[in-house]
Amino acid sequence: MKHIAIFASGSGSNAQKILEYFEQSDEIRVGLVVSNRAQAGVLNVARAFEVPTRLIDRANFYDSTDILTVLQEYQIDYVVLAGFLWLVPAYLVQAYPRRILNIHPALLPKYGGKGMYGHHVHQAVQAAGETESGPSIHFVNEHYDEGDLIFQATCAIDATDSAAEIALKVLALEHQHYPRIIEQVVLQDD
Ligand code: GRF
Repeated sequence: MKHIAIFASGSGSNAQKILEYFEQSDEIRVGLVVSNRAQAGVLNVARAFEVPTRLIDRANFYDSTDILTVLQEYQIDYVVLAGFLWLVPAYLVQAYPRRILNIHPALLPKYGGKGMYGHHVHQAVQAAGETESGPSIHFVNEHYDEGDLIFQATCAIDATDSAAEIALKVLALEHQHYPRIIEQVVLQDD
């Protein structure tokens, strides 16, 4: 059995899909959900699945390696970011080389980097007149959205689509593919 931890800052719709996908799995279990926001919806999602949760604060996350101890305690093999807005510190990247995945709601390398999250991404895509967008799943390194790509899916954008409409199309693809790609990456490592 491989254990994964989900790190998330927001509502947790991707976390929900991941938890559903692995609920009956004999090979992969979501052992922990970590958030940096006490009010984040993802914490309620985790509780509904009876998965332990941890809150982190900025000083502790960046100035100590306490989270590594927590991840070890839960025997976590992979970390999956699902709408986690903080940069992953170098000590954590180094402790989990090619074992931290992120999903970004645009076709990297475009529309990534610091400040490119949520509606900022979709507004930029729409303003540039792109005809397609879609999620990118990639390994995490020390820089925002720069690790090696694992998978991308695309959807067409109509000229009349608002940023919110683009966001919905991309999110549907995230839900469709992220759990499956996580499974592939985790199991191919055996
Ligand atoms: C997703 O669009 C993901 O690509 C981005 O943050 C959003 C998270 O949404 N990194 P949710 O919290 O999973 O609903």
